[in-house]
Amino acid sequence: MLHKKFWLWLLLCIFSLGLPMVTVSLPAYAAVDPYVTRFLKVAEPISLKADTAENTRLFSAEDLSDGKALFGKNCLNCHVGGNTLPDPTVPLSLTALQGATPKRDNINALVTYLRQPMTYDGTEETLVCRQVSESWLPTPRVENLAGFILRAAQNAPGWGTETFQD
Ligand code: HEC
Repeated sequence: MLHKKFWLWLLLCIFSLGLPMVTVSLPAYAAVDPYVTRFLKVAEPISLKADTAENTRLFSAEDLSDGKALFGKNCLNCHVGGNTLPDPTVPLSLTALQGATPKRDNINALVTYLRQPMTYDGTEETLVCRQVSESWLPTPRVENLAGFILRAAQNAPGWGTETFQD
């Protein structure tokens, strides 16, 4: 009969071999931001409006956490709490997104906007907002960014309004 210590050793070996494998197999943004579960109320994948038709797209808590991290790093200085500091009349609230031409209240429209930011009435390019080029972020990541904005506009308390609490 094998000694107890052997089993312990074997378990340790499996554990220490398995641990790095788990770590490397996960994508870089796999962690869930507590903000996403608490304020965006997302734990299981949710569907968000994908276009002006009835199509939707699924977003996991990980996708939205990735979107939040991208937003925090690249957009927050102008858009803290969903506001627009250089132009407070164009916030990221759901009402503002719905009032734009064309409407920006769905994933595809937001991605199109971020690839080429336009003025609120859609007539010309705006140079103030940050353009997200293809070479910088591939489509799935811009979609995560768009998903975060849309879900925050729908659920985050005070998002895009004067009452936002940080
Ligand atoms: C230097 C400041 C600045 C940065 C950085 C910035 N934006 Fe903007 N953003 C603006 C301004 C100003 C507007 C309004 C532009 C206009 O209507 O002409 C705007 C508009 C928008 C709108 C449209 C809002 C609406 O109601 O239609 C979205 C969406 C948006 N920004 C997303 C982003 C995202 C995502 C990022 C980060 C990748 C970002 N912005 C980075 C300044 C900024």
